[in-house]
Order: sequence, then structure tokens, then C-alpha cells
Amino acid sequence: GRRATVTGVGMYVPPKILTNKDLEKMVDTSDEWITTRTGIKERRIAADDVPTSELALKAARKALADADLKAEELDLIMVATVTPDMSFPSTACILQEKLGADKAAAFDMEAGCSGFVYAMSVASQFIETGMYDNILIIGAETLSKITDWEDRSTCVLFGDGAGAAVLQPTENGGILATELGADGTGGKSLFMPAGGSLNPADKTTVEEKMHYIKMEGNQVFKFAVKKMGQASLDVIKKAGLNPDDVDLFVPHQANIRIIDAAAKRLNLTKDRVFVNLPKYGNTSAASVPIALAEAKEEGLINNGDIIVLVAFGAGLTWASAIIKW
Ligand code: ACO
Repeated sequence: GRRATVTGVGMYVPPKILTNKDLEKMVDTSDEWITTRTGIKERRIAADDVPTSELALKAARKALADADLKAEELDLIMVATVTPDMSFPSTACILQEKLGADKAAAFDMEAGCSGFVYAMSVASQFIETGMYDNILIIGAETLSKITDWEDRSTCVLFGDGAGAAVLQPTENGGILATELGADGTGGKSLFMPAGGSLNPADKTTVEEKMHYIKMEGNQVFKFAVKKMGQASLDVIKKAGLNPDDVDLFVPHQANIRIIDAAAKRLNLTKDRVFVNLPKYGNTSAASVPIALAEAKEEGLINNGDIIVLVAFGAGLTWASAIIKW
């Protein structure tokens, strides 16, 4: 029957590199601490005048070219982000104008770092039902703009970038299954307190640094270790397959220890686990599509391969997808 499949991918990261050595001059940290605790060596930082939609645009154009599709042919654009250009209009609408995708419906997906995989699940439903044929999904973030550069417990983790994928119908393979989950009771372990209706922006919210990422790293870590493995196993089973069948595992790039724990749970050898975390850090919703695009570019994805995507993030949320390429 009719399924959705990925027909094009693309990624973009801003040129400016911030290394662990650079961070040593900004906060009380060390390259050694960051490397052993997270696996991150450097991250990309967008220029002051570059919003999320600009990164999204560059990744989107590459994905459209890869799929050999024109922007005017798009039926739907979905942008997964926790760093939209502004509260409204959605970054998807801003991008729709920039792309000239005048036929496309557009909305944002907010599911933290799981946003891109959530978007893939939603988009695949639209294609399976026959409602749409050509969908562009993007994970794009400028986390540097909501990072407290004086807080060593968070500022070493995050980076900026964007990844995009075009989804179209297929009669063979494609997105075999997806799994979505949320646990709102964990919301307080990863959040940005102000700027919404609960704590509207004013002098106090700015003074008290309430427009930055707040995180209980330990809580998120425990949650992630548990959920990344479980969500992967669940989606593999849903597709009627086994972990042995997985050719490439493309996990959310947050921490190498979290990735290793998930890979171990699936019994995957290192060559089947894609890691680009040392170069980019945690780019939230952009991390999985950047990884997918790089894996494809590096020739690690071949026709017929079984690919598992998995992510966790603010919400707390988790999401996984299994694709027969
Ligand atoms: N440099 C040096 N020391 C540091 C740094 C730093 N950058 N950051 C924290 N420390 C210190 C702490 O203060 C603490 O010191 P103390 O014991 O004297 O209090 C010590 O290091 C150990 O801190 P822990 O928090 O126990 O370290 P842990 O091994 O848990 O690693 C980390 C911390 C890397 C944050 C880990 O918990 C983690 O990766 N958590 C998941 C975070 C994550 O992925 N979040 C993103 C979710 S996605 C999204 O939606 C954006």
C-alpha cells in the first residue's frame, strides 16, 4: 500500500565554530570535562542577525534539490523548532514566503528535540491517507540565542543548525512505523520560563535570566537513557523487525553516553551507529535531520537499508521512526 518515504535530504550549519577551548575562556570548564562527559568538541553558532528561518531555508533548498522538487510543488511545510523567529507567525510560514512555496500549508511543530521525528510521523500520515503528495519537514534551531553563556552546565552542550527532508509517496518500503510519546510530568527538567503567557517578557524576566534554557541535566540524562533504547525497540517491533535488521541507527545527538547506552540496548556495533555530535553538539530538533543528511552524503545509506531515527527532548518527549530506504 501507499506509504511515505524520504526522497531528499539537506543540511546547513553556520560557518562560525565555537570550540571547547573557546569555552574555557568564557566559563569555568575544560575541554577534558566537556569531552569525557558529553563527547562534544565544537559547535556552530549563528551570527546575531541570522534567525532560525535562514538556516531552515538553506537546508530546505538542498533537500528540494536532492528530491528534484520545486518549492511551488509543495503541499505542506512543517518546521520543528524551539527557537522560532518569533512566537507568531510560525517559522514555517516565514519559510514558505522565503521559498516561494505558495501552494503549501505551513505550521510549526513544537516537541523539543523530538520535533523533527514528530514531524516525520505527522507528515507520513498525510501522505498515507492520500491528502498530500509533497511535504517538506525541517528541524532548525538557533539555541545559541536562548543559551545563558554564563551557565557552564548548559552552554557547553548546544549548537545551531538545520536539517530538512522531503517526503513523498511510495509503493515500496518507506516509513514503516513511527512511535511518539510524552511525559508532561518531566516538563520542569528542561524549559525556558519566560516570554510566553505565564511569564510575559518584562524587565524582571530579563534581569532574572528567564529567557534562557533551564535544565536539570541529571533528570534529562536518566530519562533519555531509558527512552532512547525503549522507543527504538518499540518501533522496530512495530515494523515486524529485529534490532539485527537495522543497517543504520541515527539517534538525537545530545551526549555520547546517551547514544552509547541506546546502541548497547539494541546490541548494535559501532559501525551501525551514526555520530556527528563532536562537530555540532546538541542542535535540538535539527540534530536528527542533520545527522540523516550527513549519513546520506557520506554514502552510509543505500537503497533497501533499514534506518532507525530516535530522539528525546523537552516536554519531556520521545519519538522514533523506522524507514526502509
Ligand atoms: N565544566 C566543568 N564542570 C561542570 C560543567 C562544565 N561545563 N557543567 C557541570 N559541571 C560540574 C557540575 O557543577 C558538577 O559539579 P559538583 O559535583 O561539584 O556539583 C559536576 O560537573 C557533575 O555534574 P553532573 O550534572 O552530575 O554531570 P553529568 O555527568 O550528569 O553530566 C550533563 C552533565 C552532560 C549535562 C548530562 O547530565 C547530560 O548530558 N544530560 C542530558 C542533557 C541533555 O541532553 N539535554 C538536552 C535535551 S534536548 C532539548 O530539548 C534541548
